[in-house]
Amino acid sequence: MNTSTSSSLPSIAVLATGGTIAGAAVDVMNTSGYQAGVVGVDQLLAAVPALSTVVRIAPDQVASVDSKDMAMPLWTTLAQRINTLLAADDIDGVVVTHGTDTLEETAHLLHLTIRSDKPVVLTAAMRPSSALSADGPLNLVNAVIVAGHARSRGQGVLVAFNNRIHSARDVVKTSTYAVDAFQSPEIGVLGWVQDGRVEFQREVVRPHTLTSAFSIGATWPHVEVVTSYAGVSRIAVDALVGAGVRGIVVAGTGNGSIHTTLQQALTDAASQGVAVVRSSRVGSGHVMRNGAAADDALGFVTAGSLNPYKARVLLMLALATGESSAAGLQKIFDTY
Ligand code: SIN
Repeated sequence: MNTSTSSSLPSIAVLATGGTIAGAAVDVMNTSGYQAGVVGVDQLLAAVPALSTVVRIAPDQVASVDSKDMAMPLWTTLAQRINTLLAADDIDGVVVTHGTDTLEETAHLLHLTIRSDKPVVLTAAMRPSSALSADGPLNLVNAVIVAGHARSRGQGVLVAFNNRIHSARDVVKTSTYAVDAFQSPEIGVLGWVQDGRVEFQREVVRPHTLTSAFSIGATWPHVEVVTSYAGVSRIAVDALVGAGVRGIVVAGTGNGSIHTTLQQALTDAASQGVAVVRSSRVGSGHVMRNGAAADDALGFVTAGSLNPYKARVLLMLALATGESSAAGLQKIFDTY
């Protein structure tokens, strides 16, 4: 039983952005044809009254979006709001409720731009709040418990989902429907949260938050993702270069290999000053430099273990610092 007085409890800001965790359908059996982001943060918190015995909550409705529609202006708002909250002495940590679809991108962005070692924990749900066995309430409770836990400090941005704690850098969505929808391929979870107990298994070693060189600015360099596949043409790459894109991440096959036609288009793009980053569409593993392509000769950068969408986040932040050389960008990808 919790015997702490209210003033000795950690104070956690819960920032709601929408998603299925805030979704509702007319029918309790409906777990796919519902509207995301329609339930407010106060209602989400009201579903878990026990929370008030373990933390003090400051609710904040930042947005109500289906995260497929996440966009950079909202990222700017969210990161700035979190930085402001965490600078205050009376806030000990932040929980962000988010849609699952782009959670891994937002988490990575925050991991690299939040200026605090206080815990920031993202969570979400695969079933709308109205569904039988909705997973949102327990995920929310667990995220708040992780955010209020001393061991979560200094670990960068975390994702608490289905009793597991992931690093924002590594976590990816791996199922379209299962409640167990997130994994950290190859590297595994950071820890677990179960029955109110938090257990960490390993540390985050790459730079983040206070040791990150990146910050949220007003401008976002234009970076797009293209995919390599059988019979791919060069039309998309040529159109992007024509549109003035600053960077292209290619979701290559296997070890970031690229169809000859697409590789020629990307080589032409790199020769015109567009940053080209080789990632993989496989879903796990590293893309090795000078492995599936002669990166030194082609002027390409490799994404290491970042998937194409996380690599795009890092490339935007890196380009925003003014770095544009392949060697400089490669150093950044090797570091972060
Ligand atoms: C969304 O990403 O906002 C909708 C899907 C979900 O949260 O699972």
